[in-house]
Amino acid sequence: MNVLGINGSPRIGGNTDVLLDKALEGARSSGAQTEKIVLNQLRFSPCQECQEIRDDGTCIIEDELQPLYRKIDEADIIILASPIFFGSLSAQAKMMIDRFQCAWRAKYILKKDIFQRQRKGGFISVEATTRKDFFANAKSIVKNFFLTINASYQEELFCSGIDEKGSILKSPDILNKAFELGKRIAVI
Ligand SMILES: Cc1cc2nc3c(=O)[nH]c(=O)nc-3n(C[C@H](O)[C@H](O)[C@H](O)COP(=O)(O)O)c2cc1C
Repeated sequence: MNVLGINGSPRIGGNTDVLLDKALEGARSSGAQTEKIVLNQLRFSPCQECQEIRDDGTCIIEDELQPLYRKIDEADIIILASPIFFGSLSAQAKMMIDRFQCAWRAKYILKKDIFQRQRKGGFISVEATTRKDFFANAKSIVKNFFLTINASYQEELFCSGIDEKGSILKSPDILNKAFELGKRIAVI
């Protein structure tokens, strides 16, 4: 199993990053190969709504997001992790998702699926408050994204009341939940 972790937080060593690392560790314990991408380290443009796509269905914007189309195509499992920012996903995560409009257009308008294989998806999110509706907002966007890339929404971990950088490290039970999420999702 090939697991791709996508971190939508700008904080390296922050709560999302720590939880995603734990989930990937769990996936490796199930024998999976893992890779992590930090969106904040990529220089990429938001969607320009150009309505043009390449013959292979990928986006025409030449920037550092391009390798992600192939990586997602090759992944059996996607674990997307994002903090809650203003009641939804981080800008980094939403910008990445918008760049999959090409895949949405290919799939639903041109009837040409660019991500042929079915894969599994998991979502991890962290917020400072205890608002369930913020996770619900983020989840509905992630579910839509997962449908577009043929990922079935299988696992989620939502952590409330976590704010300071790395404070998640003081909650071994949550770290264990992230580990178990990764372990479960990577089982064939
Ligand atoms: C720009 C910004 C917006 C935020 N908006 C919210 C919010 O709407 N609700 C909330 O509960 N926490 C909000 N937070 C707090 C983060 O979700 C919280 O600190 C989280 O633990 C950060 O995770 P990270 O360390 O992975 O980046 C916000 C933080 C920032 C920087």
